[in-house]
Amino acid sequence: MSMVNDKAYVRVPASTANLGPGFDNLGLALNIWNEVRFQVTGEHLVVENHGLLSDYIPKPEKNMLVIGAKKVFEACDEPFPEGLRLESQIQIPVRSGMGSSAATILAGVMGADMLLGNPLERGEILKIVGEMEGHYDNASASLFGGLTLALDRPAGTLVRRYDVPPYQLVICTPKRGSSTEEMRALLPQTVSLQDAIFNIGNTVAVVDMLRSGSITMLDVVMQDKLHQPHRLKLIPGSEQAIEAARDAGAKAVALSGAGPSLIAFCQPDQAAQVVGQAMIQAYRQAGESATFLITTPADTGAQAFA
Ligand code: HSE
Repeated sequence: MSMVNDKAYVRVPASTANLGPGFDNLGLALNIWNEVRFQVTGEHLVVENHGLLSDYIPKPEKNMLVIGAKKVFEACDEPFPEGLRLESQIQIPVRSGMGSSAATILAGVMGADMLLGNPLERGEILKIVGEMEGHYDNASASLFGGLTLALDRPAGTLVRRYDVPPYQLVICTPKRGSSTEEMRALLPQTVSLQDAIFNIGNTVAVVDMLRSGSITMLDVVMQDKLHQPHRLKLIPGSEQAIEAARDAGAKAVALSGAGPSLIAFCQPDQAAQVVGQAMIQAYRQAGESATFLITTPADTGAQAFA
């Protein structure tokens, strides 16, 4: 096999992981998209960012887009093209809990796959991204769209994808960013049987409710005992912002991925703006500044074109 296409265009959605109790297992794709254009040029490697991050370009050896693309060439036993132009239009905020690293790696993998004429199955694409991330929740949501459950086991990787109604999702991000690595390092390595039982039941109920759209009790079942309590303590103002969102009418609020963003679920007819304003006001009162955006679940996952 050798290179089949000299250009590729990839678009990848953001994602929110965990959805409360589904730590490392559940993901939901969000309608916030990164786009990347690949062009084989015969010159040297050029990486250009527009949109967010336009002033920051990590060195190629640290650039997740490049690393993701290289993995595919390695897996296919093909030399990485010396002249390649990678131009990104970035909309997914980084270090915010919206799956930007999974989306970036996935864009690199899918673009490289397209240049090589699509030798990889979807499952192989997921495996590359999931292994690099260390968890499959963001990767599966960005790849398949909708609500996803992803399990990586020695016998194989299982993904289930579900459609969800067009919830209004308010994502509120405090100015202070945090890395997933830091936010994972602080978690205890063992949990009590009671907490495990609590999370198992809630996770099943979250999937059921989000799919059906009957979310009256979503706030009850989106509670988590494995990661959120530890992480929220390190995000000043987050507990007050959760309360404020609930008081303003949000149906449920969870930490988005490893944070620091919070994600509030609202019914389509609900005033998401009011919920967002209430959250940033709560942060302000706690001496923190925050911003919010309103989005919806993305029905489709990542797409690649030649
Ligand atoms: N499941 C991961 C975590 C998601 O919570 O650490 C990171 O985006």
